[in-house]
Amino acid sequence: MQTSLLLMALYLSLPGGTQAFKPLISGGGSVTHRDITQRAVLRKTAEFCRALAAAQGQDFSLPIGDSLSIVKLQKACSADSSSSTLVSTILFQSAIVKMYLSNALVDMEFALSKAHHFDGETFQGGRALITAGVSEVKASVKRGRFLLARLALGCVCHTLQDFYSHSNWVEMGNRQPYSTLIRPDLQLVNLAGPSTPTCRNCMGGNCTDNILPEVLQQGLLTSGYFNLFSSNKPAGKCSHGGLFDWTSGRDPVGSINKDDVGSSHGHLHHTAADVAINATIELLEDIRGAAVDKDFLRLIGITQSAVLCFVIDTTGSMSDDITEAKRVSFSIIDSKRGAQQEPSLYILVPFNDPGGC
Ligand SMILES: *[C@@H]1O[C@H](CO)[C@@H](O)[C@H](O)[C@H]1NC(C)=O
Ligand SMILES: *[C@@H]1O[C@H](CO)[C@@H](O)[C@H](O)[C@H]1NC(C)=O
Repeated sequence: MQTSLLLMALYLSLPGGTQAFKPLISGGGSVTHRDITQRAVLRKTAEFCRALAAAQGQDFSLPIGDSLSIVKLQKACSADSSSSTLVSTILFQSAIVKMYLSNALVDMEFALSKAHHFDGETFQGGRALITAGVSEVKASVKRGRFLLARLALGCVCHTLQDFYSHSNWVEMGNRQPYSTLIRPDLQLVNLAGPSTPTCRNCMGGNCTDNILPEVLQQGLLTSGYFNLFSSNKPAGKCSHGGLFDWTSGRDPVGSINKDDVGSSHGHLHHTAADVAINATIELLEDIRGAAVDKDFLRLIGITQSAVLCFVIDTTGSMSDDITEAKRVSFSIIDSKRGAQQEPSLYILVPFNDPGGC
């Protein structure tokens, strides 16, 4: 398990080995899908805990920004800060890790799916994946399937975040999220048509101004084409770019992605990443609005009160004692039910004698 995660991390960190914001690791001060996801979750969680505290007339003094840490935030979100334990912190951390690993996996599992990355002007397809994914997250939360919900959320976040790196949204001067992407009731508008040219050649390798001025003036949405195997792309269209994209060598030469600071539109990398963070926060807010408070906290991995952990020896020779341990455990659980400091989570850890050698 650990080896395969490590291998995946190595694979995903190969320079140019992927076609998106770098999934987990990047150099040169670039922002990854992991950073974007974690920053958005921490900020949304902090805002939510601040609102809960205000409703209960309690203080929430933690400043909300990109310097939030998992440990401090878990502590600030606990109803009783003395009950903030290592276990709670690990549960929060592991919920976030599940979200960003499932986000990163989209680059492996769906490397060649245009819709998953908003490549090649696949705006309807990308938006359909997002709205279907959000429904899945909400349905899983309602059924109490929090792990499934986190994994689905990670996938949705990947596609949503890619929009800001792969389209010309920020080149058009937009600094707000494109809310239509998460709103099935709205229509996508101003998409550049299939035969509308959108790019021109870069000037001596400088791609700063390669999107056609009339496309930007008319506010037409476009994104870069990407092909691993051939240089074919529709006439006049922009390319995604990067080491593996063959289309960017063909007229119009050059590309428009903002995946890292070294990309052809790397001068807008940080802008795109900032808007992607805010778009992810908007998505989390939408999910929060559809869930009861307690379930939203479970989804993001926050335990507000103590976690009660039973560790029971289940070795066969212990059967009499197991019966007694069960009885005592149930009576502890019953005594906590409805109590003011009711644990937010119960964990059962069975252990037994290892097999002989
Ligand atoms: C690229 O062109 C833009 C203007 O089109 C200019 O502002 C920028 O300095 C150029 N970048 C480099 C590295 O020459
Ligand atoms: C993202 O949202 C924050 C908080 O609302 C705001 O201060 C910031 O300017 C936004 N970022 C961008 C790029 O608009």
